[in-house]
Amino acid sequence: METASAETNAKKATDKKSHPSGDKRFKQLDITMKRSQYRQDALIEVLHKAQEVFGYLEDDVLTYIARGLKLPLSRVYGVATFYHLFSLKPGGEHTCTICLGTACYVKGGGKIIEDLEQELGIKAGETTPDAKVSLVAARCIGACGIAPAVVFDGNVAGKQSSSMVLAKVKGWQE
Ligand code: FES
Repeated sequence: METASAETNAKKATDKKSHPSGDKRFKQLDITMKRSQYRQDALIEVLHKAQEVFGYLEDDVLTYIARGLKLPLSRVYGVATFYHLFSLKPGGEHTCTICLGTACYVKGGGKIIEDLEQELGIKAGETTPDAKVSLVAARCIGACGIAPAVVFDGNVAGKQSSSMVLAKVKGWQE
């Protein structure tokens, strides 16, 4: 009986792998890790997915991956810093991530990023000269129902327009 309940608990723990923040992007990492059966040699594939979904690899994401694949955090950092295609920090004090997945793109995500690039004078992946804002483009972040979605410092906001995003970003720069 005890064994059965231990198994149930283990299963529950596995099912509850999602990030406590409720940020749905972590769910996509769960799916990628699960698909590779949490194999440690899937690390690069998982990092790719993370970069695609988050735009860059923040500490929290690397820690989450290390736990998921049961790898030492140092190993995950080592791999993430070794390959130039992975970026660890957007560099700015604040990060504005625009989703360019299909649903968001067709609902105006493409226009939002264009307007932001023009207004801030930087391209996606760059940081404003005052180091206040990094602009990041990401693939579907799992919030298609509220497209176009934008992530302000880790907080997902839906049904955004260029003027709403610009107002927020300009507020950061004041
Ligand atoms: S396409 Fe943007 S959240 Fe899915």
